Amino acid sequence: MTSQTPDSTRSPDAPRRRLFVTTALPYANGAFHIGHMMEYIQADIWVRLQRMLGNEVHFVCADDAHGAPIMIAAEKARKTPQQFVADIAAGRGAYLDGFLIRFDNWHSTDAPENHQLAQDIYRALRKAGLIYARTIEQFYDPVKGMFLPDRYIKGHCPKCDAADQYGDSCEVCGAVYGPTELRQPYSVLSGAAPELRSSEHYFFQLSSPRCAEFLRDWTHGSGAHGLPRLQPEVLNKVREWFGVDEAGRGGLADWDISRDAPYFGIEVPDAPGKYFYVWLDAPIGYLASLKNHFDKGQAAAHWHEASRTTQSFEEFLADPAVEQVHFIGKDIVYFHTLFWPATLHFSGRKTPSQINVHGHVTVGGEKMSKSRGTGISPLRYLDLKLDPEWLRYYLAAKLTARVDDLDFGADDFVARVNSDLIGKYVNIASRASRFITQHFDGRLGYAGATDALREAAQALGDDVRAALEGREYARAMREIMAYADRINAAFDAAQPWVLAKDDARRAELQDACSRALAGFWTLSVLLAPVLPATASRVARELFGLPRDFVWSDCAELPERVAAYRHLLQRVDPKRVEQLLEPPAAAAPAPAQAAGIGIDDFSRVDLRVARIHDAQAVEGSTKLLRLTLDLAEHDAHGQPRLRNVFSGIAAAYDPASLVGRLTVVVANLAPRKMKFGVSEGMVLAASGDGDAAGIFLLAPDSGARPGMRVS
Ligand code: MSP
Ligand code: ZN
Repeated sequence: MTSQTPDSTRSPDAPRRRLFVTTALPYANGAFHIGHMMEYIQADIWVRLQRMLGNEVHFVCADDAHGAPIMIAAEKARKTPQQFVADIAAGRGAYLDGFLIRFDNWHSTDAPENHQLAQDIYRALRKAGLIYARTIEQFYDPVKGMFLPDRYIKGHCPKCDAADQYGDSCEVCGAVYGPTELRQPYSVLSGAAPELRSSEHYFFQLSSPRCAEFLRDWTHGSGAHGLPRLQPEVLNKVREWFGVDEAGRGGLADWDISRDAPYFGIEVPDAPGKYFYVWLDAPIGYLASLKNHFDKGQAAAHWHEASRTTQSFEEFLADPAVEQVHFIGKDIVYFHTLFWPATLHFSGRKTPSQINVHGHVTVGGEKMSKSRGTGISPLRYLDLKLDPEWLRYYLAAKLTARVDDLDFGADDFVARVNSDLIGKYVNIASRASRFITQHFDGRLGYAGATDALREAAQALGDDVRAALEGREYARAMREIMAYADRINAAFDAAQPWVLAKDDARRAELQDACSRALAGFWTLSVLLAPVLPATASRVARELFGLPRDFVWSDCAELPERVAAYRHLLQRVDPKRVEQLLEPPAAAAPAPAQAAGIGIDDFSRVDLRVARIHDAQAVEGSTKLLRLTLDLAEHDAHGQPRLRNVFSGIAAAYDPASLVGRLTVVVANLAPRKMKFGVSEGMVLAASGDGDAAGIFLLAPDSGARPGMRVS
């Protein structure tokens, strides 16, 4: 057993663990993608295991509502940020319920609890002498009337003079610089030339020796039960960030925690017009959601009836035995391993016991991108009537405690689910229960001693528990399926179909089938964190239990079985293919009548784009692959380019196109082509006869990428 587990030899009456578990709070500016679902499923499996072990768990999340990107997205949608965020929040339930993810509470970082907590924590940090104000110079957009985050400024690279480069680095020559070094800078929001203005910002003095000392101890130390707080590869990364050389130089920079109005956020106390930077109040949202959960009086009801607590949120967190466990992705480690523990510690609060970091989900080996039509829509998965437990199992079968990325492969998905869940697991019940109901009226009976059977089940249960507890889910699933293999092999070796023909061998038949079903019972208990719906039906419908399984059921032997009712379907590969196709374009407009209205025209989103790159397409004489810059950003505010295939190869040498501006239909549904996904269409004129040829459209000079054409 290699994975770490707090108490693998725990006796039944050992004290319960008290757990506060969260996943990262998703930005409230978009729907969930499969990466979010993976994180929630990973955490949900862990939480369900803890509950089955009888531990006390409070599992919460919230929308991360604040920050400039959300404020700007809301404005574009012509909504208040509050309304915008509320509309996003209203859509969350369908995903969570759909994938059997059972948070105890879902809240928002814009909720009153978070305003209060963030301000309290800030005051405590100030009292601890770790906050100071300093005036900094920053770009200001005089048209929008706001200071610009770096990602909203573009200009010419100070080194190679390439146009339209972001405020932090040049995509052409790779130079790294500050936004104020750009030549001819402009605001991505308004196109206006930004002005340098000075403004007072508040800083968290992370560079102070006591912070550095605390963080070094904390990151290297252990949380609860002697378990390390961080995975080894995460700790390595953190060490790099400390960046302290032999002579003790380097280290962490102070953290700028304030932003100027207008900003959607929480006001900094005693500093009119200043707001907390979103990453200050976002993790505090974990506490706000927990507080809301306790204040609603739900906290006690959510677990063991017998240990109903009347504790308040503050009392709960004050208990040193309470473990705080965060599940997050690898992109937000800095915030959770440095800023967050420092914020908590120096405001006199409990710090996390464990930060569990996972890698990113890729689809078919590619990074997901909504616009490119890659990635999988979780809602479409459900609409296609794909079973949520298939995805839960598939992810479990691939997840480890490391930070590696995890690829969703369609063929792999089909093969894994069909061979494991159907071929190995469900198969046992469907085959064995038939004999028991037909020949023994549903009664199980074991010939000879059952000690070895129970011992094997117990040993498997201990191993699987240790693996799940240590987030080595893939190993747990392998062990479970190896046990299923053994059960199937023993069942086949007994040849029940032969025994069934011989009245003298009834006891043997009953024994073989009962042992197979006992194995199925054990497997169902151990799979319950992953397949909660199926396990619940197995417990209640197949074995007639008046409740769901708990972990200690694992080595019990069932005594009765009901007639087998269908449990899990095979995956139809065609439906998985459908899942991976980009969504069909909206229904075409009715055939031309007397011309279209302006509304029809304005449904077409025409944008100016800069051709960032153009390449011949191998295997096609017609197409060029264009990489276009429409001044877009992804959900993380990172610049995003589009891939468009265009039938202009006959008319243009690709190299001659690079750097040119053109016009693109930006809201054309992504189309999967033989060579890849096309995410838009560039406009070109063409004619016949004398006028034959293809002529790419170009805007007049002065136009910039992202500008709307209307
Ligand atoms: N709002 C911040 C987190 C604040 S926590 C106090 C944020 N939001 S997010 O919506 O961008 O990401 C939410 C979680 O999803 C993060 O843990 C992130 O790592 C995870 N993932 C985002 N893309 C992912 C994949 N492609 N795969 C797996 N997880 C991914 O960051
Ligand atoms: Zn450059």
